[in-house]
Amino acid sequence: MLLENQAADQRDKLAAQYHAVRTQTLKICQNIAIEDYVVQPCAEVSPPKWHLGHTTWFFEELILVKFLKNYTRFNEQYKLLFNSYYKSAGKHWLQSKRGYLSRPCVADVIQYRKYVDEHMAICLQKVGENAELDFLFMLGLHHEQQHQELLYMDIKYIFGVNPLFSAYENSHREKARKITAKRQNFSEGIYKVGHTGNQFSFDNECPQHKTYIYPFQINVNTVTNEEYLAFIEDGGYEKPSYWLSQGWDWVNASNIHAPLYWQQENNAWYEYTLYGMQLLDPHAPVTHISYFEADAFAAWSGMRLPTEQEAEIFLQQSAMTKQSPTEVRLHPLQAENMAGEVWCWTSSHYSPYPRFQTFDGMVTEYNGKFMSGQFVLKGGCVVTPYGHYRHSYRNFYQPEQRWMFSGVRLAKDL
Ligand SMILES: [Fe+2]
Repeated sequence: MLLENQAADQRDKLAAQYHAVRTQTLKICQNIAIEDYVVQPCAEVSPPKWHLGHTTWFFEELILVKFLKNYTRFNEQYKLLFNSYYKSAGKHWLQSKRGYLSRPCVADVIQYRKYVDEHMAICLQKVGENAELDFLFMLGLHHEQQHQELLYMDIKYIFGVNPLFSAYENSHREKARKITAKRQNFSEGIYKVGHTGNQFSFDNECPQHKTYIYPFQINVNTVTNEEYLAFIEDGGYEKPSYWLSQGWDWVNASNIHAPLYWQQENNAWYEYTLYGMQLLDPHAPVTHISYFEADAFAAWSGMRLPTEQEAEIFLQQSAMTKQSPTEVRLHPLQAENMAGEVWCWTSSHYSPYPRFQTFDGMVTEYNGKFMSGQFVLKGGCVVTPYGHYRHSYRNFYQPEQRWMFSGVRLAKDL
C-alpha cells in the first residue's frame, strides 16, 4: 500500500512538472506575432514554430512510439520535419532550411502538441513501472527546457536583425547598479567536479571526478559593458596581438567591431535587448560575445579565461540569482556573488570527462557526438529556465557563436 502511494505521488508530481514545462514553452511564445513563428535569419537560429514541433516530436518518438501500445503518430511526415539531428531516428530535415516550412501552420503544430500531451497523460500512468520510461520522461522535460532558452535566444535574434528592433517584453527594464569588484582565491589541490547524486543530469556532466588545480584567482563579478567598452575604445578590435589567429581572421572577415546587438549612434552606444533598443547600461554584464572576443578581452586585461574546472569550483560556492519560476527578467543586471546572469566562456574544449559514457539508445546522440570544435560555457543565464540550472551544467558553442547570452568572468594564476 505504501509503495502504491509512493508511485501515485511520483506520477502526480511528474504530471504537474510535465504540464508546467509544456505550458511555459507556449507562454514564451505569447509575446510574438504569427509572422514571427517561421522566420529563420541564419542557419543556427530556428523558427519558434519549429521548436514547438521538435520538442513534441521528442516525446512522441522517444516515448509514445516505444511505450504506448497501438500509438499512431499525429502525422507520419512530422517524423522527418521535426527530427533535429538524430540519425538513428531516420532522415531529418536540414537545420538551415527550417525557415522554408510555412506548413504545417502554427495551429497544426499546436494541435500536434495537444495530441501528444493527451497520449503522454496515458503514458504517465506507467511511470514507476519501467526505469527507462522514467528516465526518458525526465530527459524530455529537460530537453524542452533547453529549447525554452533557445526560444528566447532565437526570438531575440529574429527581432534583433530587424531594423524595427521590436520589444519582446514591454515592462520597464531595471538598470544595473555599480558593484565593487571582488576576487576570490583558490589554493592548489584536488577538487571534485561533475554531477553526482540521484537528481537528473545530462550524460556530459558525468561522472563526477577528481581534478588537480593549481592556485588561481577568479573575479566574482563578470565583465561589465563599461569595462568592455574600454577595450573597444583602446582599439582592442584593431590590435592582432590580443587575438587568437582564428579569432583575428573571424573579426576581419565578418567585420566585427563590438558585441552582437551593440550599435553606435551620435557618439552613444546602444544595445538591443528583449526590452527593445536601449542605451548601453554601463554596469550590466557584457553579453553576446564570442569565445574569440572573450579571449581577446582577457589578453588585453592581462588575465585569462578560467578552465571549466576552475569555473565549476567557483560556482560550487556561489548563489544562483533566479529566485522563482515566475520571475521575469530578460536582461542580465549585475553579477555580484552570483551565478545565472550570463553564461561564461571557459578556456576548455568541450570533450568527454574521464570514463564518460553516453546515454543509451537513440539519445546516445544527445551530447557526445558534438565533442569537437566547441568550447564550454558555465553558470547559466537569465533565460535559463527555473530549475534547469546546475553548477555541473556544461553548455557548449563554437568559438565564433554569440547569439546565446554569453559573457566572461576573468581568472589568473597565483
Ligand atoms: Fe532538441
